[in-house]
Amino acid sequence: MSKDLAKPQAIACYGILKFALNAVLKENRPADKAVTYYFKNNKKYGSRDRRIMYEVVFSVFRWYGWLKEIIYLHTPEDQPDFLTLSSKTLSKIALSAGIFDGSIEAALMEYWKYELNVPETLCRTIQSVFNEDEASKILSFFGVSKKISYSALIPEWAHEKIKQTLSTEKELIKWYQTRPPIWLRIQTADTEKLFKEFSKNEIQYFSSETVKDAVCIKNAKVSLYSLKSFESGFFEIQDIASQVIGIVAGAKPGERWWDCCAGAGGKSLQLSSMMQNKGRIVASDIREYKLDDLKKRAKRNEKSNIECKAWDGKALRSNKAESFDGVLIDAPCSCSGTWRRNPDARWRLSPEEIEELLSIQFSILENASSAVKKGGFLIYATCSVFDEENSLMIKEFLKNHSEFTLESFVNPLDGSSTDGMLQIYPWMSDCDAMFVAKMQKSS
Ligand SMILES: C[S@@+](CC[C@H](N)C(=O)[O-])C[C@H]1O[C@@H](n2cnc3c(N)ncnc32)[C@H](O)[C@@H]1O
Repeated sequence: MSKDLAKPQAIACYGILKFALNAVLKENRPADKAVTYYFKNNKKYGSRDRRIMYEVVFSVFRWYGWLKEIIYLHTPEDQPDFLTLSSKTLSKIALSAGIFDGSIEAALMEYWKYELNVPETLCRTIQSVFNEDEASKILSFFGVSKKISYSALIPEWAHEKIKQTLSTEKELIKWYQTRPPIWLRIQTADTEKLFKEFSKNEIQYFSSETVKDAVCIKNAKVSLYSLKSFESGFFEIQDIASQVIGIVAGAKPGERWWDCCAGAGGKSLQLSSMMQNKGRIVASDIREYKLDDLKKRAKRNEKSNIECKAWDGKALRSNKAESFDGVLIDAPCSCSGTWRRNPDARWRLSPEEIEELLSIQFSILENASSAVKKGGFLIYATCSVFDEENSLMIKEFLKNHSEFTLESFVNPLDGSSTDGMLQIYPWMSDCDAMFVAKMQKSS
Protein backbone atom coordinates (compact mmCIF):
# COMPACT_ATOMS: atom_id res chain seq x y z
CA MET A 1 0.00 0.00 0.00
CA SER A 2 1.43 3.39 -1.00
CA LYS A 3 1.20 6.57 1.05
CA ASP A 4 -1.57 7.87 -1.26
CA LEU A 5 -3.63 4.81 -0.55
CA ALA A 6 -2.86 5.15 3.15
CA LYS A 7 -4.65 8.50 3.44
CA PRO A 8 -8.20 7.11 3.03
CA GLN A 9 -7.19 4.26 5.36
CA ALA A 10 -6.05 6.80 7.95
CA ILE A 11 -9.33 8.72 7.65
CA ALA A 12 -11.25 5.47 8.06
CA CYS A 13 -9.22 4.78 11.23
CA TYR A 14 -10.11 8.18 12.75
CA GLY A 15 -13.81 7.42 12.31
CA ILE A 16 -13.75 4.03 13.96
CA LEU A 17 -11.32 5.14 16.67
CA LYS A 18 -13.55 8.01 17.84
CA PHE A 19 -16.55 5.71 17.78
CA ALA A 20 -14.80 2.88 19.67
CA LEU A 21 -13.21 5.15 22.32
CA ASN A 22 -16.62 6.65 23.05
CA ALA A 23 -18.41 3.27 23.03
CA VAL A 24 -15.92 1.61 25.39
CA LEU A 25 -14.94 4.42 27.73
CA LYS A 26 -18.20 6.37 27.89
CA GLU A 27 -20.86 3.75 27.23
CA ASN A 28 -19.06 0.75 28.74
CA ARG A 29 -19.58 -1.42 25.63
CA PRO A 30 -17.07 -4.16 24.70
CA ALA A 31 -14.73 -3.05 21.90
CA ASP A 32 -15.34 -6.13 19.72
CA LYS A 33 -19.11 -5.55 19.82
CA ALA A 34 -18.68 -1.82 19.12
CA VAL A 35 -16.41 -2.57 16.15
CA THR A 36 -18.84 -5.16 14.75
CA TYR A 37 -21.67 -2.64 15.08
CA TYR A 38 -19.59 0.02 13.33
CA PHE A 39 -18.82 -2.21 10.37
CA LYS A 40 -22.46 -3.27 10.10
CA ASN A 41 -23.38 0.37 9.70
CA ASN A 42 -20.43 1.24 7.44
CA LYS A 43 -20.59 -1.41 4.77
CA LYS A 44 -18.10 0.27 2.41
CA TYR A 45 -15.06 -1.27 4.12
CA GLY A 46 -13.64 -4.46 2.65
CA SER A 47 -12.03 -7.24 4.68
CA ARG A 48 -8.53 -5.80 4.38
CA ASP A 49 -9.65 -2.34 5.54
CA ARG A 50 -11.57 -3.90 8.40
CA ARG A 51 -8.55 -5.88 9.52
CA ILE A 52 -6.35 -2.77 9.54
CA MET A 53 -8.97 -0.70 11.41
CA TYR A 54 -9.45 -3.50 13.92
CA GLU A 55 -5.70 -3.60 14.63
CA VAL A 56 -5.59 0.15 15.19
CA VAL A 57 -8.53 0.08 17.62
CA PHE A 58 -7.19 -2.84 19.67
CA SER A 59 -3.62 -1.47 19.78
CA VAL A 60 -5.01 1.81 21.13
CA PHE A 61 -6.92 0.07 23.93
CA ARG A 62 -3.90 -2.08 24.76
CA TRP A 63 -1.76 1.04 25.33
CA TYR A 64 -4.54 3.40 26.39
CA GLY A 65 -3.00 3.80 29.86
CA TRP A 66 -0.19 5.77 28.18
CA LEU A 67 -2.06 7.17 25.17
CA LYS A 68 -4.70 8.88 27.31
CA GLU A 69 -2.04 11.50 28.14
CA ILE A 70 -2.24 12.72 24.51
CA ILE A 71 -6.02 12.90 24.78
CA TYR A 72 -5.83 14.89 28.05
CA LEU A 73 -3.76 17.56 26.28
CA HIS A 74 -6.79 18.39 24.17
CA THR A 75 -9.84 17.54 26.25
CA PRO A 76 -10.58 17.66 30.01
CA GLU A 77 -9.17 14.71 31.98
CA ASP A 78 -12.36 14.03 33.93
CA GLN A 79 -14.76 14.38 30.97
CA PRO A 80 -12.89 13.66 27.72
CA ASP A 81 -15.05 14.09 24.65
CA PHE A 82 -13.83 11.38 22.31
CA LEU A 83 -16.27 12.16 19.53
CA THR A 84 -14.77 15.61 18.96
CA LEU A 85 -11.10 14.56 18.90
CA SER A 86 -9.37 16.06 15.87
CA SER A 87 -7.82 13.98 13.11
CA LYS A 88 -4.43 15.27 14.20
CA THR A 89 -4.88 14.07 17.79
CA LEU A 90 -6.20 10.74 16.57
CA SER A 91 -3.22 10.31 14.25
CA LYS A 92 -0.84 10.96 17.18
CA ILE A 93 -2.65 8.35 19.24
CA ALA A 94 -2.67 5.79 16.44
CA LEU A 95 0.99 6.34 15.51
CA SER A 96 2.08 6.04 19.15
CA ALA A 97 -0.01 2.86 19.53
CA GLY A 98 1.72 1.46 16.45
CA ILE A 99 5.16 2.28 17.86
CA PHE A 100 4.34 0.71 21.23
CA ASP A 101 2.64 -2.32 19.73
CA GLY A 102 4.34 -2.99 16.39
CA SER A 103 1.15 -4.31 14.84
CA ILE A 104 -0.16 -1.48 12.66
CA GLU A 105 0.18 -1.64 8.86
CA ALA A 106 3.59 -0.22 7.78
CA ALA A 107 2.25 2.13 5.08
CA LEU A 108 -0.18 3.71 7.55
CA MET A 109 2.63 4.21 10.03
CA GLU A 110 4.71 5.86 7.26
CA TYR A 111 1.81 8.13 6.41
CA TRP A 112 1.38 9.29 10.02
CA LYS A 113 5.13 9.73 10.53
CA TYR A 114 5.21 11.96 7.44
CA GLU A 115 2.04 13.92 8.36
CA LEU A 116 3.20 14.52 11.93
CA ASN A 117 6.82 15.11 10.98
CA VAL A 118 8.13 12.57 13.47
CA PRO A 119 11.88 11.82 13.30
CA GLU A 120 12.74 8.27 12.31
CA THR A 121 14.77 7.80 15.51
CA LEU A 122 11.57 8.04 17.58
CA CYS A 123 9.74 5.45 15.54
CA ARG A 124 11.41 2.22 16.52
CA THR A 125 8.82 -0.19 17.85
CA ILE A 126 9.19 -0.54 21.61
CA GLN A 127 6.84 -3.50 22.18
CA SER A 128 7.71 -3.71 25.85
CA VAL A 129 6.60 -2.12 29.10
CA PHE A 130 10.27 -2.08 30.09
CA ASN A 131 10.90 0.64 27.50
CA GLU A 132 9.20 3.39 29.47
CA ASP A 133 11.94 5.88 28.53
CA GLU A 134 11.55 5.24 24.80
CA ALA A 135 7.78 5.52 25.13
CA SER A 136 8.12 8.78 27.08
CA LYS A 137 10.22 10.24 24.24
CA ILE A 138 7.52 9.77 21.64
CA LEU A 139 4.80 11.09 23.97
CA SER A 140 6.90 14.12 24.87
CA PHE A 141 7.38 14.83 21.14
CA PHE A 142 3.59 15.19 21.08
CA GLY A 143 3.62 17.54 24.09
CA VAL A 144 3.15 15.17 27.06
CA SER A 145 5.42 16.29 29.88
CA LYS A 146 4.40 13.58 32.39
CA LYS A 147 6.88 10.70 32.83
CA ILE A 148 5.02 7.51 32.13
CA SER A 149 5.30 4.21 33.94
CA TYR A 150 4.32 0.61 33.16
CA SER A 151 1.90 0.72 36.09
CA ALA A 152 -0.43 3.10 34.18
CA LEU A 153 -1.15 0.31 31.67
CA ILE A 154 -3.76 -1.18 33.99
CA PRO A 155 -6.30 0.71 36.16
CA GLU A 156 -4.95 2.10 39.41
CA TRP A 157 -7.35 0.12 41.61
CA ALA A 158 -6.11 -3.20 40.10
CA HIS A 159 -2.56 -2.92 41.55
CA GLU A 160 -3.53 -3.72 45.14
CA LYS A 161 -5.60 -6.71 44.03
CA ILE A 162 -2.83 -8.17 41.87
CA LYS A 163 -0.14 -7.60 44.49
CA GLN A 164 -2.05 -9.77 46.97
CA THR A 165 -0.87 -12.89 45.12
CA LEU A 166 1.88 -11.81 42.76
CA SER A 167 5.24 -10.25 43.57
CA THR A 168 6.06 -9.75 39.89
CA GLU A 169 3.17 -7.55 38.85
CA LYS A 170 5.34 -5.98 36.16
CA GLU A 171 5.76 -9.37 34.51
CA LEU A 172 1.98 -9.81 34.33
CA ILE A 173 1.52 -6.32 32.85
CA LYS A 174 4.21 -7.09 30.30
CA TRP A 175 2.22 -10.14 29.23
CA TYR A 176 -1.00 -8.12 29.13
CA GLN A 177 0.66 -5.91 26.50
CA THR A 178 1.19 -8.81 24.09
CA ARG A 179 -1.30 -10.65 21.93
CA PRO A 180 -2.11 -14.25 22.82
CA PRO A 181 -1.94 -16.90 20.13
CA ILE A 182 -4.98 -18.94 19.15
CA TRP A 183 -5.22 -22.31 20.89
CA LEU A 184 -7.31 -25.15 19.53
CA ARG A 185 -8.63 -28.25 21.23
CA ILE A 186 -8.42 -31.14 18.79
CA GLN A 187 -11.41 -33.44 18.77
CA THR A 188 -10.46 -35.88 16.05
CA ALA A 189 -8.24 -38.91 15.95
CA ASP A 190 -7.62 -38.14 12.25
CA THR A 191 -5.10 -35.38 12.91
CA GLU A 192 -3.33 -36.17 9.64
CA LYS A 193 -6.31 -34.89 7.66
CA LEU A 194 -6.56 -31.84 9.89
CA PHE A 195 -2.89 -30.92 9.69
CA LYS A 196 -2.96 -31.46 5.90
CA GLU A 197 -5.65 -28.81 5.64
CA PHE A 198 -3.59 -26.50 7.85
CA SER A 199 -0.54 -26.95 5.62
CA LYS A 200 -2.59 -26.45 2.46
CA ASN A 201 -3.74 -23.11 3.89
CA GLU A 202 -0.25 -22.16 5.09
CA ILE A 203 -1.37 -22.21 8.71
CA GLN A 204 1.58 -22.51 11.08
CA TYR A 205 0.90 -24.60 14.16
CA PHE A 206 2.54 -26.64 16.87
CA SER A 207 1.24 -29.10 19.44
CA SER A 208 1.57 -28.47 23.17
CA GLU A 209 4.21 -30.70 24.73
CA THR A 210 2.13 -31.26 27.84
CA VAL A 211 -1.58 -30.84 27.06
CA LYS A 212 -2.55 -33.68 24.77
CA ASP A 213 -5.16 -32.11 22.50
CA ALA A 214 -3.91 -28.52 22.54
CA VAL A 215 -2.54 -27.05 19.32
CA CYS A 216 -1.24 -23.50 18.98
CA ILE A 217 -1.84 -21.52 15.82
CA LYS A 218 0.91 -19.03 15.20
CA ASN A 219 -0.08 -17.49 11.95
CA ALA A 220 -3.38 -17.97 10.13
CA LYS A 221 -4.06 -15.92 7.02
CA VAL A 222 -7.45 -17.56 6.55
CA SER A 223 -10.28 -17.69 9.04
CA LEU A 224 -10.17 -20.97 10.96
CA TYR A 225 -13.98 -20.99 10.87
CA SER A 226 -13.87 -21.29 7.08
CA LEU A 227 -11.99 -24.61 7.16
CA LYS A 228 -13.68 -27.89 6.27
CA SER A 229 -12.18 -29.48 9.38
CA PHE A 230 -13.92 -26.87 11.54
CA GLU A 231 -17.26 -27.63 9.88
CA SER A 232 -16.58 -31.32 10.53
CA GLY A 233 -16.03 -30.65 14.24
CA PHE A 234 -12.33 -31.63 14.12
CA PHE A 235 -11.39 -28.79 16.48
CA GLU A 236 -12.78 -26.08 18.72
CA ILE A 237 -11.06 -22.80 19.50
CA GLN A 238 -10.28 -22.92 23.23
CA ASP A 239 -7.39 -21.34 25.09
CA ILE A 240 -5.00 -23.88 26.61
CA ALA A 241 -5.63 -22.45 30.11
CA SER A 242 -9.33 -23.12 29.64
CA GLN A 243 -8.52 -26.67 28.48
CA VAL A 244 -6.70 -27.20 31.78
CA ILE A 245 -9.99 -26.64 33.64
CA GLY A 246 -11.68 -29.53 31.80
CA ILE A 247 -8.66 -31.78 32.37
CA VAL A 248 -8.66 -31.00 36.11
CA ALA A 249 -12.41 -31.79 36.22
CA GLY A 250 -11.52 -35.25 34.89
CA ALA A 251 -15.03 -36.29 33.76
CA LYS A 252 -15.24 -40.00 32.87
CA PRO A 253 -17.44 -41.91 30.38
CA GLY A 254 -20.85 -42.76 31.85
CA GLU A 255 -20.82 -40.05 34.54
CA ARG A 256 -23.35 -37.27 35.12
CA TRP A 257 -21.93 -33.73 35.11
CA TRP A 258 -23.48 -30.30 35.52
CA ASP A 259 -21.73 -27.37 33.81
CA CYS A 260 -23.74 -24.73 35.60
CA CYS A 261 -22.29 -21.56 34.01
CA ALA A 262 -21.91 -23.10 30.56
CA GLY A 263 -22.23 -19.99 28.38
CA ALA A 264 -21.53 -20.98 24.78
CA GLY A 265 -20.33 -24.32 26.12
CA GLY A 266 -16.58 -24.51 25.48
CA LYS A 267 -16.12 -26.63 28.58
CA SER A 268 -19.31 -28.68 28.15
CA LEU A 269 -17.96 -29.79 24.76
CA GLN A 270 -14.63 -30.67 26.32
CA LEU A 271 -16.30 -32.68 29.11
CA SER A 272 -18.37 -34.47 26.47
CA SER A 273 -15.19 -35.40 24.54
CA MET A 274 -13.58 -36.68 27.73
CA MET A 275 -16.69 -38.75 28.43
CA GLN A 276 -16.54 -40.12 24.85
CA ASN A 277 -20.11 -38.94 24.43
CA LYS A 278 -21.24 -41.46 27.09
CA GLY A 279 -23.11 -40.34 30.20
CA ARG A 280 -24.91 -37.00 30.63
CA ILE A 281 -23.96 -33.35 30.80
CA VAL A 282 -26.49 -30.76 31.86
CA ALA A 283 -25.38 -27.34 30.61
CA SER A 284 -26.99 -24.28 32.18
CA ASP A 285 -26.67 -20.55 32.08
CA ILE A 286 -28.66 -17.59 33.30
CA ARG A 287 -28.56 -16.23 29.74
CA GLU A 288 -30.51 -18.80 27.78
CA TYR A 289 -29.51 -17.34 24.40
CA LYS A 290 -25.90 -18.37 25.06
CA LEU A 291 -26.99 -21.99 25.22
CA ASP A 292 -28.25 -21.69 21.62
CA ASP A 293 -24.61 -21.37 20.54
CA LEU A 294 -23.78 -24.48 22.52
CA LYS A 295 -26.60 -26.38 20.80
CA LYS A 296 -25.16 -25.47 17.37
CA ARG A 297 -21.64 -26.40 18.44
CA ALA A 298 -22.80 -29.71 19.93
CA LYS A 299 -24.55 -30.56 16.68
CA ARG A 300 -21.45 -29.79 14.62
CA ASN A 301 -19.36 -31.88 17.02
CA GLU A 302 -21.90 -34.75 17.09
CA LYS A 303 -22.12 -34.50 20.86
CA SER A 304 -25.46 -35.97 21.78
CA ASN A 305 -25.07 -36.21 25.56
CA ILE A 306 -25.44 -32.50 26.35
CA GLU A 307 -28.79 -31.26 27.62
CA CYS A 308 -29.28 -27.47 27.80
CA LYS A 309 -31.40 -25.95 30.57
CA ALA A 310 -31.65 -22.37 31.86
CA TRP A 311 -30.59 -21.79 35.49
CA ASP A 312 -30.52 -18.46 37.29
CA GLY A 313 -28.00 -19.34 39.98
CA LYS A 314 -30.69 -19.65 42.69
CA ALA A 315 -31.29 -22.50 45.16
CA LEU A 316 -31.99 -25.90 43.58
CA ARG A 317 -35.11 -28.02 43.94
CA SER A 318 -34.65 -30.90 46.38
CA ASN A 319 -34.75 -33.51 43.56
CA LYS A 320 -31.49 -32.07 42.21
CA ALA A 321 -29.63 -32.57 45.51
CA GLU A 322 -26.62 -34.85 45.32
CA SER A 323 -27.47 -36.00 41.79
CA PHE A 324 -24.20 -35.32 39.88
CA ASP A 325 -20.79 -37.00 39.84
CA GLY A 326 -19.33 -33.60 39.15
CA VAL A 327 -20.37 -29.96 39.08
CA LEU A 328 -18.31 -27.42 37.17
CA ILE A 329 -18.73 -23.76 38.12
CA ASP A 330 -16.99 -21.66 35.46
CA ALA A 331 -18.04 -18.57 37.35
CA PRO A 332 -18.86 -15.12 36.01
CA CYS A 333 -15.84 -13.05 37.05
CA SER A 334 -13.79 -9.91 36.50
CA CYS A 335 -12.14 -11.60 33.46
CA SER A 336 -8.88 -9.91 34.54
CA GLY A 337 -7.06 -13.00 33.26
CA THR A 338 -8.14 -12.22 29.68
CA TRP A 339 -6.86 -8.64 29.45
CA ARG A 340 -4.34 -9.82 26.82
CA ARG A 341 -7.15 -10.98 24.59
CA ASN A 342 -9.61 -8.17 25.35
CA PRO A 343 -7.39 -5.15 26.09
CA ASP A 344 -10.36 -2.79 26.44
CA ALA A 345 -11.91 -4.85 29.26
CA ARG A 346 -9.50 -3.44 31.87
CA TRP A 347 -10.86 0.08 31.23
CA ARG A 348 -14.49 -0.99 31.55
CA LEU A 349 -14.27 -2.82 34.87
CA SER A 350 -14.78 -1.13 38.26
CA PRO A 351 -14.08 -2.33 41.82
CA GLU A 352 -17.83 -1.96 42.51
CA GLU A 353 -18.59 -4.51 39.78
CA ILE A 354 -16.08 -6.90 41.33
CA GLU A 355 -17.90 -6.57 44.68
CA GLU A 356 -21.14 -7.60 42.95
CA LEU A 357 -19.38 -10.50 41.22
CA LEU A 358 -18.01 -11.75 44.54
CA SER A 359 -21.49 -12.08 45.94
CA ILE A 360 -22.76 -13.86 42.76
CA GLN A 361 -19.78 -16.26 42.86
CA PHE A 362 -20.40 -17.07 46.50
CA SER A 363 -24.09 -17.67 45.97
CA ILE A 364 -23.49 -19.90 42.90
CA LEU A 365 -20.98 -21.93 44.95
CA GLU A 366 -23.49 -22.29 47.80
CA ASN A 367 -26.37 -23.32 45.53
CA ALA A 368 -24.63 -25.47 42.91
CA SER A 369 -22.51 -27.40 45.42
CA SER A 370 -25.63 -29.09 46.83
CA ALA A 371 -25.96 -30.96 43.51
CA VAL A 372 -22.67 -32.87 44.02
CA LYS A 373 -23.10 -36.54 44.97
CA LYS A 374 -21.29 -37.95 47.99
CA GLY A 375 -17.76 -38.74 46.74
CA GLY A 376 -18.31 -36.47 43.71
CA PHE A 377 -16.30 -33.43 42.62
CA LEU A 378 -16.89 -29.69 42.70
CA ILE A 379 -14.75 -27.69 40.29
CA TYR A 380 -14.62 -23.91 40.61
CA ALA A 381 -12.90 -21.84 37.92
CA THR A 382 -12.50 -18.20 36.92
CA CYS A 383 -10.49 -16.29 34.35
CA SER A 384 -9.37 -13.88 37.05
CA VAL A 385 -6.03 -13.07 38.67
CA PHE A 386 -7.60 -11.54 41.77
CA ASP A 387 -7.26 -13.60 44.93
CA GLU A 388 -10.63 -12.55 46.32
CA GLU A 389 -12.41 -14.22 43.38
CA ASN A 390 -10.17 -17.28 43.59
CA SER A 391 -8.44 -18.87 46.58
CA LEU A 392 -10.04 -16.51 49.13
CA MET A 393 -13.49 -17.35 47.72
CA ILE A 394 -12.77 -21.08 48.07
CA LYS A 395 -11.42 -20.68 51.60
CA GLU A 396 -14.59 -18.78 52.59
CA PHE A 397 -16.79 -21.48 51.02
CA LEU A 398 -14.91 -24.31 52.75
CA LYS A 399 -15.31 -22.62 56.15
CA ASN A 400 -19.05 -23.44 56.06
CA HIS A 401 -18.82 -26.68 54.07
CA SER A 402 -16.78 -29.21 55.93
CA GLU A 403 -18.29 -31.91 53.67
CA PHE A 404 -15.92 -30.65 50.93
CA THR A 405 -12.12 -30.89 50.95
CA LEU A 406 -9.56 -29.69 48.45
CA GLU A 407 -8.37 -32.51 46.23
CA SER A 408 -4.77 -32.31 45.10
CA PHE A 409 -4.20 -32.64 41.33
CA VAL A 410 -1.37 -32.47 38.84
CA ASN A 411 -0.93 -29.23 36.92
CA PRO A 412 -1.38 -30.41 33.32
CA LEU A 413 0.90 -27.62 32.05
CA ASP A 414 4.05 -28.77 33.83
CA GLY A 415 3.31 -31.96 35.79
CA SER A 416 3.83 -30.31 39.20
CA SER A 417 1.46 -31.25 41.99
CA THR A 418 -0.96 -28.76 43.50
CA ASP A 419 -2.79 -28.52 46.82
CA GLY A 420 -6.13 -28.52 45.01
CA MET A 421 -5.90 -24.95 43.68
CA LEU A 422 -3.99 -23.61 40.69
CA GLN A 423 -3.51 -20.08 39.43
CA ILE A 424 -2.47 -20.16 35.79
CA TYR A 425 -0.51 -17.17 34.46
CA PRO A 426 0.17 -16.31 30.78
CA TRP A 427 3.87 -17.19 31.03
CA MET A 428 3.05 -20.79 31.91
CA SER A 429 1.96 -21.54 28.35
CA ASP A 430 1.49 -18.30 26.35
CA CYS A 431 -2.13 -18.33 27.47
CA ASP A 432 -4.88 -16.52 29.38
CA ALA A 433 -4.66 -16.38 33.18
CA MET A 434 -7.17 -18.67 34.92
CA PHE A 435 -7.82 -20.16 38.33
CA VAL A 436 -9.15 -23.60 39.19
CA ALA A 437 -9.96 -25.37 42.45
CA LYS A 438 -10.93 -29.04 42.77
CA MET A 439 -12.94 -30.19 45.79
CA GLN A 440 -14.35 -33.58 46.70
CA LYS A 441 -17.50 -34.21 48.74
CA SER A 442 -16.99 -36.73 51.51
CA SER A 443 -18.80 -40.06 51.03
C1 LIG B 1 -16.98 -17.59 32.37
S1 LIG B 1 -18.47 -17.57 31.56
C2 LIG B 1 -18.70 -19.23 31.05
C3 LIG B 1 -17.85 -19.68 29.90
C4 LIG B 1 -18.14 -21.09 29.46
N1 LIG B 1 -18.15 -22.02 30.56
C5 LIG B 1 -17.17 -21.60 28.40
O1 LIG B 1 -16.29 -22.42 28.70
O2 LIG B 1 -17.31 -21.19 27.24
C6 LIG B 1 -19.62 -17.42 32.88
C7 LIG B 1 -21.06 -17.63 32.51
O3 LIG B 1 -21.85 -17.51 33.71
C8 LIG B 1 -23.12 -17.00 33.34
N2 LIG B 1 -23.77 -16.48 34.56
C9 LIG B 1 -23.68 -15.24 35.08
N3 LIG B 1 -24.41 -15.15 36.22
C10 LIG B 1 -24.96 -16.36 36.41
C11 LIG B 1 -25.84 -16.90 37.38
N4 LIG B 1 -26.25 -16.16 38.41
N5 LIG B 1 -26.23 -18.18 37.24
C12 LIG B 1 -25.79 -18.94 36.21
N6 LIG B 1 -24.96 -18.49 35.24
C13 LIG B 1 -24.56 -17.22 35.35
C14 LIG B 1 -22.80 -15.98 32.27
O4 LIG B 1 -23.92 -15.74 31.45
C15 LIG B 1 -21.64 -16.61 31.54
O5 LIG B 1 -22.07 -17.28 30.38
